Amino acid sequence: MVKPDGVQRGLVGEIIGRFERKGFTLRALKLFRPSKELAEEHYKDLSAKPFFKDLVDYITSGPVVAMVWEGNGVVASARKLIGATNPLNAEPGTIRGDLAIQTGRNVVHGSDSPENGERETGLWFGEGALVEWEPSLKPWLTE
Ligand code: GTP
Ligand code: MG
Repeated sequence: MVKPDGVQRGLVGEIIGRFERKGFTLRALKLFRPSKELAEEHYKDLSAKPFFKDLVDYITSGPVVAMVWEGNGVVASARKLIGATNPLNAEPGTIRGDLAIQTGRNVVHGSDSPENGERETGLWFGEGALVEWEPSLKPWLTE
C-alpha cells in the first residue's frame, strides 16, 4: 500500500514501478481513503503502542493506493524492496531508504507474512477482487 504521504508526494508511479520492474504481478489495485475502522483493524496488533492513534490518523489522512502483488517469494521480497521501518535505517536502494526520512511518514506498507497478506487482501479488497491474468513476460521471469 502506498500510504497517504506517498500519494500526496506523487510517488505512486515510482513505487508501483519498482514492483513491476522486479517482476511481480499486479492482481488488484485501488485508490481510496480508508476509514478509521479499517485502519484500526489493519494495524490492530499495534493497538497497545503509544503511537497507535498517530498511526491511525496518518493512514486515514488522505487517499492510499492499496495493491495486491503476486509472485515467487513476493512477501519477503517486498519487505526487502520497502526497507526498514525507520527510513533512516533503511538501506539506500530501498523505497524507504531512498524516499523517506521518518518512521511516521514512511511512504509504504507491506504485509509481513503470507498469512497477513491474505488477511489484509480480504480486509482491503473483500471477496473476488483479484484479477486472473497471465503476464506474457512470465517465461522470461521464471523458469
Ligand atoms: P508497515 O508495513 O506499515 O506495517 O510497517 P512495518 O511492518 O515496517 O512496521 P510496523 O508494522 O512495526 O509498524 C507499522 C507502522 O507504524 C510503521 O510503518 C510506521 O508507519 C508506524 N510506526 C511504527 N513505529 C512507530 C513509531 O515509533 N512512531 C510512529 N509515529 N509511528 C510508528
Ligand atoms: Mg507491519
